[in-house]
Amino acid sequence: MIAEVARMIGRGTNAGTFCAAAKHRRKLRFIVLLCIAFGSTHLPLFAEGQSNAALIHFDSQAQVFRMDTADMSYVFGINEKKQLQAIYWGKRLSSADTFAMPHSDPGVSSFESSTNTTRQEFVGWGGGLYVEPDLKVTFPDGNRDLVLEYVSHRIDGNQLTILLKDISREVYVELQYQIDASTGVLTRSAQVHNRTSAPLTVEEIASATWNLPHGTDYRLRYLTGRWAGEWSLREQIVQPGKTILESRRGSTGAQNNPWFAIDKNGSNDQEYGDVWFGALGWSGSWQISIEQDATEQVRVTGGPNRFDFGYRLAPGEHLQSPDFYAGYSRDGIGGASRLLHRFEISNILPHAPSPKLRPILYNSWEATEFKVDEAGQEALAEKAASIGIERFVVDDGWFGQRSSDHAGLGDWYVNPVKFPHGLKPLIDKVHSLGMDFGLWVEPEMVNPDSDLYRKHPDWTLNFTGRPRTEGRNQLMLNLARPDVRAYVFQSLDKLLNENDIAFLKWDYNRNWSEPGWPAVAPEDEKKVYIAYIQNLYSILDELRTKHPHVEIESCSGGGSRVDLGIMYYTDEVWPSDNTDAFDRLLIQDGFTYAYAPGVMMAWVTDSPTWVNKRSLSLEYRFLSSMQGSLGVGANLNNWKPEDFATAKKMVTQYKQIRETVQRGSLYRLISPQKGSEQSVTESVSEDQRHAVAFAFLHSSQMLYPFPTIYLRGLKTDAMYRIDALDGKLSKNLPPVASGAFWMEHGVDVELRGDFQAAAFRLEIVER
Ligand code: GLA
Repeated sequence: MIAEVARMIGRGTNAGTFCAAAKHRRKLRFIVLLCIAFGSTHLPLFAEGQSNAALIHFDSQAQVFRMDTADMSYVFGINEKKQLQAIYWGKRLSSADTFAMPHSDPGVSSFESSTNTTRQEFVGWGGGLYVEPDLKVTFPDGNRDLVLEYVSHRIDGNQLTILLKDISREVYVELQYQIDASTGVLTRSAQVHNRTSAPLTVEEIASATWNLPHGTDYRLRYLTGRWAGEWSLREQIVQPGKTILESRRGSTGAQNNPWFAIDKNGSNDQEYGDVWFGALGWSGSWQISIEQDATEQVRVTGGPNRFDFGYRLAPGEHLQSPDFYAGYSRDGIGGASRLLHRFEISNILPHAPSPKLRPILYNSWEATEFKVDEAGQEALAEKAASIGIERFVVDDGWFGQRSSDHAGLGDWYVNPVKFPHGLKPLIDKVHSLGMDFGLWVEPEMVNPDSDLYRKHPDWTLNFTGRPRTEGRNQLMLNLARPDVRAYVFQSLDKLLNENDIAFLKWDYNRNWSEPGWPAVAPEDEKKVYIAYIQNLYSILDELRTKHPHVEIESCSGGGSRVDLGIMYYTDEVWPSDNTDAFDRLLIQDGFTYAYAPGVMMAWVTDSPTWVNKRSLSLEYRFLSSMQGSLGVGANLNNWKPEDFATAKKMVTQYKQIRETVQRGSLYRLISPQKGSEQSVTESVSEDQRHAVAFAFLHSSQMLYPFPTIYLRGLKTDAMYRIDALDGKLSKNLPPVASGAFWMEHGVDVELRGDFQAAAFRLEIVER
């Protein structure tokens, strides 16, 4: 049968090429992008292969696929209608358990037919489907009915690929599954192939649908926000109907982040209970729908945003969806975050599974804004080096005619007035001070007041003859255009070739408007939503390949472009322009529900803060930032000698705890959410030998003491020495005690007053 299918779809000689490449996820992503870009159309040949690895099994009698890791099982099968039907997703089951062949649900009435009530893994819009489809197409003859059936599958180590086909037309879908052995996180995506003899239009494509166990007691957590107020954690009961999390902005956006977590029974405990969570790896407009259907079944469907979507596939072409990652934890929302953090470190970030620790950087933005020049930056660099900073970053203002945000974007040459000898003297100086050098860029943008725009006004997103809406006085370059892609790559490549640059802060300071692409046929214009992001990723990939020592930060006026797609290519992200160390407690708390503390850049800036005019001690500001990747963004020209002494001490301390914070397991001991007066986080190193905790008090009231801090994640029987970072530990604590003691007896800190902070470390001592 498989050979027959292979013949039918007219391929075979290239069979397997794609699957071989799929063994290497990083490589695969780029190959897929290239395949799409060049319209390559290899379909894999699926022999009914069996896995030689233990993670994925196919029971050919029962027609059931089963994926297991130490803590999780994911099971689905092929029913009598050749639909892929979800069976189980949750805590690991016994290897001895077997499953019956799935049978489609009969439906409950003529209004709720079987297609809707059967829990399908991936369903086309056809046959009377009312729930969210995974794929919707329009054929040129007006037919819009698509009913997908299982054809074949292939298991290759920890990857499963399943081929589906429409019941009558030559439309094929390859579903890709990959399971991560250590975290149980599944990666799913879909690739649709047009093998008909005419073009068709993909109107909706999802990466995957995740079916939750039947139940009505679910609660959804998600993240929302805006500029300077990102990462606000929200929760709501999952009710009949649909909740859409999305961005229509062309990029990830801050209004929602492409992450969800759903738990049962609404328990507020961080560490207990079932949680299903997921995140999309896509930096363009996206959508995740959480739907409770007419039979109270909950399903989560995600992929590129369906609004204004339309992707024309010529005969022989295919379209690849982004990756949609999801996992399960029995250990509450805290456990879910830790799994996701571990997965990001071991599978997503550049240099995974061992991404480099983040250096402590200084950034000039809040100190000098656009007024950068050689002498001023050199003076700051000297001061930064004196406190132990490892990387010096020049922010906006160094290029073109950039003296405000009204001009210069697009002209990536060094401003000859501010830097008459180029960047070299400054870079040499920075190196001589023992730091490496980083630079701000915003490559996808252009100011109308720029040489680039004057030369190429047609390079922006626009609809012919319509206004071009500016944001921060700038327009979006259309990165989908090959000439724009080439210009952006060449500008950055030249910059990196000519200067010894170790780091780029890659900014993106507005969202899309008028998303037209007049240079292509009208029926292809909407491809911009996909083609733009593919080119963004391919530029990042090519730059990294050509300049392997260069690290990149994803910034978007703060945290508007943080997702698992961009994190494949960027070493760190900027969560928010809001650097108020008190506001940051909430921002950082929300951020870490989805993303690892190690990528979360956190600068110590000036007090009173520009945001709230709040005054905070330098110690407080440092301790707030030390929960993530430490940076300094204050105007060092205004610091007093005692500030330098404090900063030097705290930078030294951070270096000692850096690996624990950036690579360790995060426990939210007291959440700053819901107006809490306190906040406490703890990070425990992977080997459980080290831990560090940070405690913050908003305001003392009525003589109440700070609550006892009960640590987590330590070895019960091991002995740990406790050390204060700042002398605020209770005098009643022993210097050395067991992990059990610190977790059950707890730790008291002497915090009293307004905006107070304390931190302490634990380290195993050999008996
Ligand atoms: C954005 C960034 C800031 C800074 C400015 C420069 O707002 O988020 O950190 O780089 O741009 O213009």
